Amino acid sequence: MSREGDELALYDPKLLHELEFWRSPAKFNPPITAIAPGETWMKVRPLQEGDYDRGFLELLSQLTKVGNITKAQFLMKFAQMRASGGYYVTVIEDTRINRLIGSATLVLEHKFIHGCSVRGRLEDVVVNNTYRGKQLGKLIVVTVNLLAQHLGCYKMSLDCKDHLIPFYETLGYVLEPGNSNAMNIRFDGAKEAPTRDRSVTMSIAANATNPVDPS
Ligand SMILES: CC(C)(COP(=O)(O)OP(=O)(O)OC[C@H]1O[C@@H](n2cnc3c(N)ncnc32)[C@H](O)[C@@H]1OP(=O)(O)O)[C@@H](O)C(=O)NCCC(=O)NCCS
Repeated sequence: MSREGDELALYDPKLLHELEFWRSPAKFNPPITAIAPGETWMKVRPLQEGDYDRGFLELLSQLTKVGNITKAQFLMKFAQMRASGGYYVTVIEDTRINRLIGSATLVLEHKFIHGCSVRGRLEDVVVNNTYRGKQLGKLIVVTVNLLAQHLGCYKMSLDCKDHLIPFYETLGYVLEPGNSNAMNIRFDGAKEAPTRDRSVTMSIAANATNPVDPS
């Protein structure tokens, strides 16, 4: 059942109990997992329908422009994502203040190639700026990586700026030679802010000890 307490959750929270953190090349010091995140007041869980009132959009606004989204719009998008079944927005809550402090999304991309396989996409990774540097970025990314592996993805990819390459490398992502360029075509007229950072694509294989599939 994808419910957490009285609230509808985006996916079944039990999945988070099935993740094997020992599989990740990430080093946690002290050791933490999605189920035991190191503090009693911290909870890693799927996005819930009540999270509009727990600062989810304010958290995302530390990553990029969000816009003025009404609760009705949020609930509509939540219902669409939940019905599609391919969205695993995973959050960290500070339960002392009922606020979300971290988030990352796994999107499943279904394919015909590789024997009708599934590729994971890591999207919208953010930790509230007052909680950064405490392993929460690692924790939320490793959680969705393991979720992707658990759900049968053959690889997981992300786009990031140059300066975040070292962060993602510690979590098992690699730049594939000749196959790591992020390109976009804009339909919304928005222009990227000028930056010295280039955007690159990184991937992690289902079995991080195997070379990443080039496709
Ligand atoms: C990137 C981000 C999620 C990291 O969260 P965090 O909670 O501070 O990360 P952690 O505490 O788990 O840090 C893990 C490691 O990565 C390193 N790291 C963290 N942020 C980094 C950054 N911006 N650049 C380079 N390294 C970074 C840390 O030094 C740490 O190294 P260590 O394990 O050797 O000590 C956070 O800085 C953030 O939300 N940034 C704004 C949004 C953003 O850029 N998201 C990524 C989009 S691709």
